[in-house]
Amino acid sequence: MSIQFFAPRDADNQLVRLPPALRRTVRWLPRIGDIFPDFNVETTQGSLKFWEWAEGHWVHLFSHPAAKTPVCTSEIASVASYSAAWKAANVKNLALTGSTLDEQTQWHADIARLFNVKVDFPCAHDPDLKLSRLFGMMHEKESEAWPIRKSFLIDPSQHLRMIFEYPIFIGRRTGEVLRVVHALQLRDRTGAATPSDWEDGDITIIPDDRSEAHVRKEFGAGSVRLSPYLRVVQPAY
Ligand code: BEZ
Repeated sequence: MSIQFFAPRDADNQLVRLPPALRRTVRWLPRIGDIFPDFNVETTQGSLKFWEWAEGHWVHLFSHPAAKTPVCTSEIASVASYSAAWKAANVKNLALTGSTLDEQTQWHADIARLFNVKVDFPCAHDPDLKLSRLFGMMHEKESEAWPIRKSFLIDPSQHLRMIFEYPIFIGRRTGEVLRVVHALQLRDRTGAATPSDWEDGDITIIPDDRSEAHVRKEFGAGSVRLSPYLRVVQPAY
């Protein structure tokens, strides 16, 4: 049974009755800013205790529907092909799916043969999809059997910083996950915000009233106020 815990009101302050299927339950769902829970899982590289394994790194934790399926094959190969970029950004990858470790290991050999890339990160087996359910990766209207393509970025203090959700038959763009890693790291380092389609080295946004001296120190250049609400800087490096 689902219970309507919260009470949205319409413009006339009347209670909006949600269809039962849309009512919230007490189940936790990961949200940006949450501390990501610790968990143990078996992977293609052995048992892993999440917090211990993640310590000191950013983590890209992502679900995918199953081993030996076409879109997932392209995604795992793509993530593996960015190995040097993940390392440079201090990011560890962890894939999660319901397929067994044997299935995944055999599959990685196929990927090496097909794409000439080594899957050098742990890929976890989620028996009965228990973790996938806990992390909101099962969207039953999309599929009752397979997890969707959900990606998390978790920072070195174990805070969840980004969530992407993609449907079963649409592969993700790995470069977009890396772009967000770089944007989050820039934000943490300098306090800057990043505009739409930002890439490393592009103009960035100064989203607050910090001093010009501070901006110059961080970016080696002065800011420009394009409007009362849009202050930007072109980094000098
Ligand atoms: C895939 O291509 O990754 C896929 C195909 C069928 C079911 C689940 C995933």
